[in-house]
Amino acid sequence: MNSPIIIALDFPEASHAIRFADTLDPALCRLKVGKELFTQAGPSLVETLMKKGFDIFLDLKFHDIPNTVAAACKAAAGLGVWMVNVHALGGSRMMKAARLALADAPCKLIAVTLLTSMGREDIEEIGLQGEPIDIVGRLAALARSCNLDGVVCSAIEAAMLRKKFGADFCLVTPGIRPSGASSDDQKRIMSPIEAIESGSDYLVIGRPVREAPDPLRALESILEEIKWKN
Ligand code: C5P
Repeated sequence: MNSPIIIALDFPEASHAIRFADTLDPALCRLKVGKELFTQAGPSLVETLMKKGFDIFLDLKFHDIPNTVAAACKAAAGLGVWMVNVHALGGSRMMKAARLALADAPCKLIAVTLLTSMGREDIEEIGLQGEPIDIVGRLAALARSCNLDGVVCSAIEAAMLRKKFGADFCLVTPGIRPSGASSDDQKRIMSPIEAIESGSDYLVIGRPVREAPDPLRALESILEEIKWKN
């Protein structure tokens, strides 16, 4: 199983998430469990989804003192999830502690650089200097220097990061819209094939599959678009 598609399970409760996951095929996608669903449904949901054969990206974006983040990452890896993430803004001591905590775990560890919801004004307000793309580049470099496996970034930043860091740095990109799909509240979107061609390793996709009349068919057509074969 090496699908580059991660489907965002943005549901308020376990029963909806499980019903939806049952319409998909673990050979064709992985699943992302975020803060809302995990807070509601917890580790037992993650376990249920893994028993169904899905790889889980636990998207809890840990950001705390190094000791706490290291322990949280260890607890996440203990659930057997495939990928977990932290905030690069927590700094290098925090990321190194997380890396050390997962030294023997197969779980991938990636960092969120700058939230894509943050505009220029939000960035200035918290005292960060420079253009968003430069801040993303700096934080990604920091994550790499701490031996993290990669970062979450917009597909628009992926080309720059791929060029800067080479092939073995994992780029996970949300904000993907197949041609013809609604952009919803995402502003800077790319199609699946454009994102792959820009250097993304994994595409996080939510509504275009979740809200499709036939989610499995929607997923298959994305895989056809990027010419992925199982
Ligand atoms: O429905 P949609 O495809 O827009 O969902 C994208 C998913 O990726 C959501 O779970 C959203 O929270 C997440 N995400 C994002 N932008 C980021 C990081 C995560 O849209 N920068």
